[in-house]
Amino acid sequence: MPDLDVTAPHISRVYDYWLGGKDNFAADRELGEQTMAAYPDIVWSVRANRAFLVRAVRFLTAEVGIRQFLDIGAGLPSADNVHEVAQREAPGSRIVYADNDPVVLSHARALLRSTPQGALDYLDADARDPDAILASAAKTLDFTQPVAITLLTVLQFVPGDEAGAVVARLMAACVPGSFLVISHPASDIEADHHAEMVRRMNSSMAQQVTLRDRAGVTGLFAGLELVEPGVVKASQWRPDSDIQAAMPTVLWAGLARKP
Ligand SMILES: C[S@@+](CC[C@H](N)C(=O)[O-])C[C@H]1O[C@@H](n2cnc3c(N)ncnc32)[C@H](O)[C@@H]1O
Repeated sequence: MPDLDVTAPHISRVYDYWLGGKDNFAADRELGEQTMAAYPDIVWSVRANRAFLVRAVRFLTAEVGIRQFLDIGAGLPSADNVHEVAQREAPGSRIVYADNDPVVLSHARALLRSTPQGALDYLDADARDPDAILASAAKTLDFTQPVAITLLTVLQFVPGDEAGAVVARLMAACVPGSFLVISHPASDIEADHHAEMVRRMNSSMAQQVTLRDRAGVTGLFAGLELVEPGVVKASQWRPDSDIQAAMPTVLWAGLARKP
């Protein structure tokens, strides 16, 4: 793992700390505590995000019939990773995970296993290079068939208009009937506390966060058909229970179909 520097906090490990995981180092825990002091509900917000992941992937497999997923910015293995949710519904599902953190890749390779009927691959890849991701993913996924691309709390690391260009390039490679799923930290929910939390992150992390408002996140779905209820707080996208719906979150989330 040549790029590994455990003295600097990294978002994958800070996120793991917020989720109550064990795959983090002292620098990650320190920033985790500093950010939780600015916005204590971050620990609920990340759980609401994982619950959204489960509902979105379950919807796509069980209700739409999607059997292929490309999960970019996959994060450290946690409870209910994309392939586990998808293969629970449809064991033959094929999933490609991509992340640019070498720790994520080594943990994913060590811990994640496909069903025998399905397939799993892991790419060391940058979301800002969609062509490279698409070329490698095509070894496992058939892009002549529908694919769901999941970009969950990762596009905040792609600044300005580039995020829209990345999404457009990815979706251009997919056939009609493919889907895009996004969750994204908001500039217009709990604005003061969240902005202070992000200021603390950006002052000590190499990965710089750009917040977007609801209109900005909705704009990332340009040209696609948003599935009801549209772009909403992550906890309010088709919640399974009142408890899920009430979870505090600073994330916008949505799911859309390519027409
Ligand atoms: C906040 S975590 C989200 C993990 C998971 N998608 C989820 O929502 O639970 C963000 C992940 O994106 C990865 N990441 C950040 N910038 C990236 C980039 N430019 N390309 C690929 N992965 C990136 C980080 O390494 C981290 O694992």
